[in-house]
Amino acid sequence: MAFLDKHKAIETHATLLMVLSLLVVAIGGIVQIVPLFYLQNTIENVEGMRPYTPLELAGQAIYMREGCYVCHSQMIRPMRDEVERYGHYSLAAESQYDHPFQWGSKRTGPDLARVGGKYSDAWHVDHLTDPQSVVPESVMPKYGFLSGVKLDGAYIADRMRAERIVGVPYTDAQIDNAVADFAVQADPDADSSGLLERYGKAVVSNFDGQKGVTEMDALIAYLQVLGTMVDFSTFTPDASR
Ligand code: HEC
Repeated sequence: MAFLDKHKAIETHATLLMVLSLLVVAIGGIVQIVPLFYLQNTIENVEGMRPYTPLELAGQAIYMREGCYVCHSQMIRPMRDEVERYGHYSLAAESQYDHPFQWGSKRTGPDLARVGGKYSDAWHVDHLTDPQSVVPESVMPKYGFLSGVKLDGAYIADRMRAERIVGVPYTDAQIDNAVADFAVQADPDADSSGLLERYGKAVVSNFDGQKGVTEMDALIAYLQVLGTMVDFSTFTPDASR
């Protein structure tokens, strides 16, 4: 056939074959990559997502410092066993304010993406202080020392400014009130109306049961918000994507 004869020319000329192959690969690449430039955002905006409060943000830093991600993932995959065990699968939007994201890669312990509200604050204090007192066969290390380290939040506004540079939409009001909000969230006797106005559904509690703010307070404030921002009783995925 005439067509096959022409193909022979391509197969017997290395340079021609290379040039034509590059052309085909380039077309494939353009088709895949160019549409991404026209998308405003590859993450669906989901109602309820807000940046972390100053105390939660401090807790996230402790979570990273202590390497909790080495044993815990924060990413529920859309498979039946996962969804039945942990709840609704994780949405991209749920880690949009995590820098860096805490998806993790190994589960020595359970996934923590929806651990918020699952246990009481007192349970977390007991568990973090001595995991084996709650779950005898646990291999999780003890983190009781966190209760002894006081935090004043002096640096937290700077951290929020840094987060803002990488795209977290902290407002000036949130940054100006950072140190106050930091203390208020761990003190149920304080006036938390400003905090709650700036951060929807923030949990105010004396997380560790002690006076003053400790690393334990910050870490538990962070754990208690994980996976709770999106209301899945009203959430419907955007089918247009
Ligand atoms: C050496 C691995 C390891 C490290 C590091 C580790 N954990 Fe765990 N974690 C576990 C295991 C195993 C369990 C399950 C048994 C238990 O509840 O203790 C667990 C359970 C938990 C639970 C209960 C989850 C649930 O749904 O029942 C929480 C919360 C938790 N870890 C938080 C943390 C935090 C916060 C850190 C860092 C300060 C941390 N873990 C570090 C192994 C680890």
